[in-house]
Amino acid sequence: MKYGYYDNENREYVITRPDTPAPWLNYLGNGQFSGIITNTSGGLIFNKDAGNHRITRYNFNNIPWDRPGRYLYLKDMESGEYWSPTWQPVMKDLEFYECRHGMGYTKISGTYEKVATDITYFIPNGKNYEVWKVKIKNKDNKPKNLKIFSYIEFSSYIAQFDIEADWPRYFMECYRKGNAVVFNPSDDWIKIKDILSFIGTDLPIDSFDCDRDKFIGRYRSETNPIAVENGACGNNENSADNCCGSICSKISLAPDEEKEFIFTVGITDNDEKIKDILAESTNLEIAEKDLADLKEFWNDHINKIQVNTPDEEMNTMLNCWHPYQCKMTFNWSRFISYYERGLSRGWGYRDSMQDVLGVIHSVPDAVKTRIKTLMSIQFSRGDAKAVYFPGTGKSNGGGRSDDHIWGIFSVCSYIKETGDYAFLDEKVPYADCGEGTVYEHLIAGLEFTRRNVGEHGIPLFLHNDWNDSLKLISTEGKGESSFVFFQAAHAAYELIRLFEHIGDKEKLDWANDYYDWCRSVYEKLWDGKWFLRGFTDYGEKFGTDDDEFNKIFLNPQSWAVLSRLPSKEQGNSCFDNVNKYLLCEMGVASHAPASEGLDVKKKSFFGLPAGVRENGGLFFHASTWAIIAETLLGRNEDAYSLYHRELPTVRNDNVDQCFIEPYVYASSMVAPVHPKYKMGVGSWLSGTASWMFVAATQYILGFRPDYDGVIIDPCVPKEWDKFNYSRMYRGIKCNVTSGKLPCEGARSTALIVDGEKIDGNFIPFDKIKGKKEVNIEIIY
Ligand code: GLC
Repeated sequence: MKYGYYDNENREYVITRPDTPAPWLNYLGNGQFSGIITNTSGGLIFNKDAGNHRITRYNFNNIPWDRPGRYLYLKDMESGEYWSPTWQPVMKDLEFYECRHGMGYTKISGTYEKVATDITYFIPNGKNYEVWKVKIKNKDNKPKNLKIFSYIEFSSYIAQFDIEADWPRYFMECYRKGNAVVFNPSDDWIKIKDILSFIGTDLPIDSFDCDRDKFIGRYRSETNPIAVENGACGNNENSADNCCGSICSKISLAPDEEKEFIFTVGITDNDEKIKDILAESTNLEIAEKDLADLKEFWNDHINKIQVNTPDEEMNTMLNCWHPYQCKMTFNWSRFISYYERGLSRGWGYRDSMQDVLGVIHSVPDAVKTRIKTLMSIQFSRGDAKAVYFPGTGKSNGGGRSDDHIWGIFSVCSYIKETGDYAFLDEKVPYADCGEGTVYEHLIAGLEFTRRNVGEHGIPLFLHNDWNDSLKLISTEGKGESSFVFFQAAHAAYELIRLFEHIGDKEKLDWANDYYDWCRSVYEKLWDGKWFLRGFTDYGEKFGTDDDEFNKIFLNPQSWAVLSRLPSKEQGNSCFDNVNKYLLCEMGVASHAPASEGLDVKKKSFFGLPAGVRENGGLFFHASTWAIIAETLLGRNEDAYSLYHRELPTVRNDNVDQCFIEPYVYASSMVAPVHPKYKMGVGSWLSGTASWMFVAATQYILGFRPDYDGVIIDPCVPKEWDKFNYSRMYRGIKCNVTSGKLPCEGARSTALIVDGEKIDGNFIPFDKIKGKKEVNIEIIY
């Protein structure tokens, strides 16, 4: 069944019924003052750091779902009826409901008893407040005498305290000041210095409540607050208890009359300033302009690449949702979503290093800063801490085998996109002592990997590699990881190409020596038909045809091909077997057959049920590398077929089984071996976003920025008639057009660039430098 559709013209996903199989999310804000909002106005608001500066509460994994949020109640003072125009939390059957998730805003419309309400939620760029722009219209032929109540629940700024203990509420203070309810906890424990939060409006206040439990009433919930039933708040200020922000105002509407007003939720450092903030934030003209600016901002971000292919589902993703998801993933790593609770995850070193890949073409400066921030939690010996918290600058964790290698792909991709070779010489501190250049950080990481190998000469698995759920392979500390091996080999291959371009012999010799070491070792991982996943603590092969379970893993096959070490025959054999063992209707499994239960001696290392997440689930993040590998092997049809079946847009008709939003990627989906086949896991914040963007734009559509130029090398199916796209590259709008492939698997052999023929598939930057726009036609 369908719950909505894509309004591509307005860049919105339109949800047409509120009871979606899971709350469907959007993000407000862009990395600073921000929030998550669901299709029924649930979610929370925070400032930069959802763990250390949370402003409103949200009860994750709670029953009833998706509470609290940013609520408005309407009460008809004649009939006594009350409702939520956003459906939640009162959940009365609305005569009309629609939620439009757009780029940086969400608009929810609800009609009840012929009162039509539209609420547009957004955070203006650069502002420390969220706007709820409300339009309310009486569609009845009799006047309406209404009251409106706002409701948010204030959170301890340090969210963990709020969840773990009762004592934070004793530090809370909340009061009315002017047209706002102000939350100003004691300057101790739960407070970030000099920050207070508020909710305010331009409506005249009839009554207010700061006391959550008095507003809701005993043994009630947000569904039936006593204050709303009574038709008035109790004017309760609050000390030493849970706080809410409820403002109640009267609204009378003649037949057909429409009114507009605004509520805002924000932060400031002094309650005297709230009056001025409200004057600005509740001004309708300013709000209209801020919303228009916001739309323009996102259009500008998204328009950097626009595609027109025969695949409409692909177009919808690439022309709107996919670049938007990449930016939100860049902003929040795995920190805060409906599935990530904004507590312990911050910006993961490995995750964020990968997330930058989806936004280098649009925000290169922010990428550069992010790479340096992450590198500053790398140790001088090469490995890195695991997590960085943007609000506090604190970091923790570490001991993993893959973290420190990811930076090589980020830095090389950044230099290819921008030509900023000087970045390599910039200094970045180490987490322990001293500092090194970006180049030295990269080398330290690869050296660490080469120093820490096991008895087969393959890098040790350590605490874990990319796969968080395989750690039991190395309880004795002896397990070895083919993933890390091929990851390092691919990194060395990338560095060879970089140093060749720079012409630095010393560095090139180092990278060649590293790659030679990889070449001398890789055959140890060949299992006859595919590559092993590694060796266990007991020195046994893992991911081998000899075993009944966990025979073949996807990642080693993909990364082996990416490393360019295997022969073409080996690569093809790997992917023939990927197709045979791992492919299904909705995607490709991480490995198969997945084992059930834990038994380290029998090589059953996964505690997860078979088919779920890293234990043989359809792990989309990992499938992106398979798509890229297939393009490198020249398997056009396979690459595209896998890409297409995993598009979120493909599951719009199937959401009762898939549950999650059909407009963004999830990290994984349950595989056919499990009864919950097709259930989506962890939408929004996933490495799938950035790598799938790379796979789609650079490898399938084939626009691949390279050192001092761009490679145009599409890998598309034969059935495509023609396609074209535009892509900004170093300030130049590149318009690429292609006709039908002459035969299956055909690749570009020449390009016509503004009428001039170039042999091969590479356009040197010097050829197009200084132009505003360039037309590129592909010849096969
Ligand atoms: C999740 C984690 C990521 C990890 C992957 C596989 O996506 O965020 O860090 O690599 O799972 O375990």
